[in-house]
Amino acid sequence: MQILVTWWSQTGNTQKIAEAIFQSIPGNKILKPLTEVTTLDGADLTFIGFPVMQFGPPAPVRKFLKTHTAGKKIALFITHAIDPFSKDPRQQEMLQKEIDQCRSAAALAGADIKGIYHCQGELSQQVADTLLASDIPMLMEFAAMRPITLGHPDDMEVENARLYAKKIVSSF
Ligand SMILES: Cc1cc2nc3c(=O)[nH]c(=O)nc-3n(C[C@H](O)[C@H](O)[C@H](O)COP(=O)(O)O)c2cc1C
Repeated sequence: MQILVTWWSQTGNTQKIAEAIFQSIPGNKILKPLTEVTTLDGADLTFIGFPVMQFGPPAPVRKFLKTHTAGKKIALFITHAIDPFSKDPRQQEMLQKEIDQCRSAAALAGADIKGIYHCQGELSQQVADTLLASDIPMLMEFAAMRPITLGHPDDMEVENARLYAKKIVSSF
């Protein structure tokens, strides 16, 4: 069985999870950035990772899912700024919507989705500064989240990603 692990990442959080997933799975495997993947033919299972941007997959990832994943076995891994353990129902609801958006981008493309892992990822200072300067209240609200994102993905989130990947692979 051939397994491909691919990711799109702007500031390295999703790449960190991609590398952990890659290391945790046995056998015939390839690790490649999404920008270098031209086809999923030949892969029996593909892990695809990306950050949430503006409440869903970034545009290049949407395009990739649309073009390449019909009929393919896909396991998603996603990083985002929102704290999944937040006690604020608004945050919980927003995160649920984001994950649903990511799932449906793959589902609408016809992917056979085998799983979705998601965890928090640090909002970089540079990104926070850009969002703050936007003067758009919703984006400025995101920038204010930076303190609660610091240090993510942490060791536990990386370990959980490894366990997620192992479980999916062992079910094949
Ligand atoms: C332009 C931009 C938009 C973002 N939009 C969201 C968002 O809508 N929801 C969210 O939870 N996180 C959002 N984030 C935070 C990222 O998803 C998070 O920091 C992620 O871990 C970044 O991953 P990367 O380091 O792999 O690029 C956004 C980040 C950027 C740069």
